[in-house]
Amino acid sequence: MSQQTGKTPGSGVVSSDKMKMWGGRFAERTAASVEAFTCSVQVDSRLYRQDIAGSRAHARMLARQGLISDEECGLILDGLEEIEGEISRGEFVFRPELEDIHMNIEKTLAERIGPAGEKLHTARSRNDQVALDFRLYLREETDRLQDLLAGMQRALVDQARRWRRAVMPGYTHLQRAQPVLVAHHLLAYYEMFKRDRQRLADCRRRINVLPLGAAALAGTGLPIDREYVAQLLDFPEVSANSLDTVSDRDFAVEFAAAASLIQVHLSRLAEELVLWTSEEFSFVILPDAFCTGSSIMPQKKNPDVPELIRGKSGRVTGHLMSLLTLLKGLPLAYNRDLQEDKEPVFDIVDTVSASLALAAELMAGLRFNEEKLTAALSRGCMTATDLADYLVRKQIPFRQAHAIVGRTVAYALEQGRDVGELSLPELRRFAECIDEDVFAVLSVSGSVASRNSTGGTGGERVDEAIARAEAELG
Ligand code: ARG
Repeated sequence: MSQQTGKTPGSGVVSSDKMKMWGGRFAERTAASVEAFTCSVQVDSRLYRQDIAGSRAHARMLARQGLISDEECGLILDGLEEIEGEISRGEFVFRPELEDIHMNIEKTLAERIGPAGEKLHTARSRNDQVALDFRLYLREETDRLQDLLAGMQRALVDQARRWRRAVMPGYTHLQRAQPVLVAHHLLAYYEMFKRDRQRLADCRRRINVLPLGAAALAGTGLPIDREYVAQLLDFPEVSANSLDTVSDRDFAVEFAAAASLIQVHLSRLAEELVLWTSEEFSFVILPDAFCTGSSIMPQKKNPDVPELIRGKSGRVTGHLMSLLTLLKGLPLAYNRDLQEDKEPVFDIVDTVSASLALAAELMAGLRFNEEKLTAALSRGCMTATDLADYLVRKQIPFRQAHAIVGRTVAYALEQGRDVGELSLPELRRFAECIDEDVFAVLSVSGSVASRNSTGGTGGERVDEAIARAEAELG
């Protein structure tokens, strides 16, 4: 930001420090390089609504306590409203020499309404003011993320219902393991996002504490009423220790951690979509509108959206690290380092919001290729565990059953066949107790249907899970 010089009509050019709100004790003007380095308004102007909401509540409290007159309060409220309108319409001129959003608003107010504006900062410091703005901001954003998460969950449940009967290979170690319902796989993500929502709700409780009134670090000797401000701004709680209040950012770290998990969950889903759209899997078809082509290979349809969602998890988790590192080693109470807390959080909010919105849209447009799923299920001896369970039901100890089926699988693979394709006499070579009823067990549909333990992929359980999820989403 460039150094600007404040001009007072009739007095010629004055040092910009005469215009600074803290300029009183300074003999020299601030170096241009320092102004540029310390200025944050280009980032924190994003908090203007919260800053004005906080100032409104503060002014009303000051008036109620007799610290300013009702008339002065009225002037402040009107002035703030005018400024808010200008900022929202893009008409407000931000002055970098005024450092941050707080001083840009306050100084402009004072210039417009005179001494009443200069009273607004009574019993307040930017240290508690910025903490308030940041908490108000994150309180709103956690609520917005809750809605986006609900949208993502909705898309997953809708698809789970739509593909209710489709079966796909379930994997461990990315090796075909056991057949599962597509719906079951999708609902796994539903559960992840459900926990993400719980984490955000929990984090919101700690965000939702009023910091204003801590003042610079030690509280104030003026007769303020913090509880009244809390009531005006809808905070159920007032912070307990002024030193902690102005130096605490753990609410932001918690938010970043919760958001990182959301992005990591999205990234895992994205990775699966990338895999599943490859020719090798061909399990799903992404809508054309969500893919891009190659400038050299005309046949390509690339899954860029899931790739970017996956890629963006790097910056979100990176921001979490920045915040933790920012706090490490900071002595109490406020330190200017804390100004660095906003950029990472804003970028987390932007990145996670955009990723969630895109992922929900993408999920809603996803189609499964049932033919390919069925073909994939016919290879990999995916019902081998079912055969072992069958033997267990015939009183063979599980470890022995496991060994028997291992030999059976080896035999089938030698023949280039699947266990499900062996004849009864062939199967009996490995265990005499095997009867005709084994084929129901060895079929993919039989395998899935049998897994009705709580939380399993059996159709009844998955139907219940879909119904439960739908009820939860309301
Ligand atoms: N721009 C500062 C921040 O974001 C506001 C608080 C400044 N306080 C101070 N004592 N310099 O942290």
